[in-house]
Amino acid sequence: MPTSPPDRDPRRLRSWRWFGPDDLRSFGHRSRLRQMGLAADDAEGKPVIAVLNTWSDLAQCHTHFRDRAADVKRGVWQAGGFPVEIPVLSLSEMFVKPTAMYHRNLLAMEVEEVLRSQPIDGCVLMGGCDKTVPGLLLGAISAGLPAIFLPAGPMLAGRYRDQRLGSGTDVWKFWAERQAGCLAECAWRQLEEGIARSPGTCMTMGTASTMAAVAETLGMTLPGAATIPAVHSAHARLAAACGRRIVEMVWENVTPASILGPAAFRNAIVADMALCGSTNAIVHLVALARRAGVALALDDFDRISRVVPVIANLRPAGAYLMEDFHDAGGVPALLSRLHDHLALDCPTVNGRSLGENIAGAEVLDADVIRPLDRPLDAAGGTCVLRGSLAPDGCVIKPTAADPRLLVHTGRAIVFRDYADLKARIDDPALPVTPDSVLVLQSAGPVGAPGMPEWGMLPIPQRLLAAGVRDMVRISDARMSGTSYGTCVLHVAPESAIGGPLALVRDGDLIGLDVPGRRLDLLVEDAEVTRRRAEWRAPPRRVHRGYGSLYLDEVTQAPDGCDFRFLEAGPDTPEPDIF
Ligand code: FES
Repeated sequence: MPTSPPDRDPRRLRSWRWFGPDDLRSFGHRSRLRQMGLAADDAEGKPVIAVLNTWSDLAQCHTHFRDRAADVKRGVWQAGGFPVEIPVLSLSEMFVKPTAMYHRNLLAMEVEEVLRSQPIDGCVLMGGCDKTVPGLLLGAISAGLPAIFLPAGPMLAGRYRDQRLGSGTDVWKFWAERQAGCLAECAWRQLEEGIARSPGTCMTMGTASTMAAVAETLGMTLPGAATIPAVHSAHARLAAACGRRIVEMVWENVTPASILGPAAFRNAIVADMALCGSTNAIVHLVALARRAGVALALDDFDRISRVVPVIANLRPAGAYLMEDFHDAGGVPALLSRLHDHLALDCPTVNGRSLGENIAGAEVLDADVIRPLDRPLDAAGGTCVLRGSLAPDGCVIKPTAADPRLLVHTGRAIVFRDYADLKARIDDPALPVTPDSVLVLQSAGPVGAPGMPEWGMLPIPQRLLAAGVRDMVRISDARMSGTSYGTCVLHVAPESAIGGPLALVRDGDLIGLDVPGRRLDLLVEDAEVTRRRAEWRAPPRRVHRGYGSLYLDEVTQAPDGCDFRFLEAGPDTPEPDIF
């Protein structure tokens, strides 16, 4: 933490290399600022702040970002900086197919190159809808410039008649009722009108909310930023505060590397577990850590999961929504309950330690943020399993599962890919019972490709109508953070590269033992060996462009699904200015 005022000599600025020297190239740069109507006083010698905006007409969670970018710029001007708004890839979790995860690394690459190649001293990262959070942070870590994250904030709670609705979570529940024939067409239409009522991200503890809380705990946001509702006037004030703070961060040289050490990542896992956060957070945190040069393994998550109770009573695991969490004190209040599990001396973007930021934080509703001795679950926000079906690991969120199924042995019903699942899941001839184990293959990083959120396999209609609402489901896919059920996810190695999941056949016995952290294919070794000898990789689905790069370079889920060539390595040199 700086103890004396920083040196504000403009020659210290990275952008000075573009604008400062008395040479032909800098003349060109300055004359082009004049072309944009900017006088010397407007820009030169000031920190140039990139406002990286993931707004687009198809980014439904970021529709307020044009206004917020203006708020950020106001803050930058106030603090003596020069703001430049730069659009970067907008990744709508809803509209981008096959999945926004497929493009997370593309956003990360864009952010890194946009920052490195231009006269930029620091940046405000404007994201929120699931993959935009890790995408922006991954790029900013690799670029190495001062960066502050501005979360989009959750949308308003949904509403249907007298019920509050949670994004995703309640949609799945009502869809199950509709599939079971218990919900009329007109009610379904009313749900469509009421489930998403404002700008902002999904307001359950889905991936967006989890990653915002993770970013705050890592120290990459201002305190309290993760939960401010998108349409709250405090969100506009937060945006301006980010603009003011990033200017100071440039002078103080507060970079992601100075914040994101091993202890910061452990703190983030503690928060994730206490929130019963999205399983997706595991993949993203591993990728972020690797970019920051920090080793993080699945076992780190399981170790912390065993000792940190779930104390956030938020859907899908609990009862409340993000507005309630914010009003109960948000992330600072949550962390104040967890201080014995946290490294409180970790630095954060506001120049203070995590401990200083949460000192004085108060829990204002003890049913939303439970005391440690009255948790939602004593442990196990996300558990890591291993066994003959997942030698490199897989994950499950037990709090969102039917406890009756956490130890279960059943016979497999295998779907060779998502198209097969869609075609057959409701086939009356499917020999499925409530005790069956539904298995989906070819849904991993390479197989799908992109590891879509297909892991909450639908319950067959026939069983829904009979009252079944949960079954054991296993795949190498991910699952929406808003989803629930006994879904074993991220099975690694994935089936498309020959993991044991590829060798499962209809009728095989599968053993799930969450307390014992096991997932096993209960088939004779000789038979497994025979199947392995017969196995052939599915044909490659993409042969050119970004997709080809993706298939060649993506790592498996336990390694973060980053591209191998993007993981931490020697510093990339600054661009030459000729
Ligand atoms: Fe954007 Fe859920 S669809 S956060």
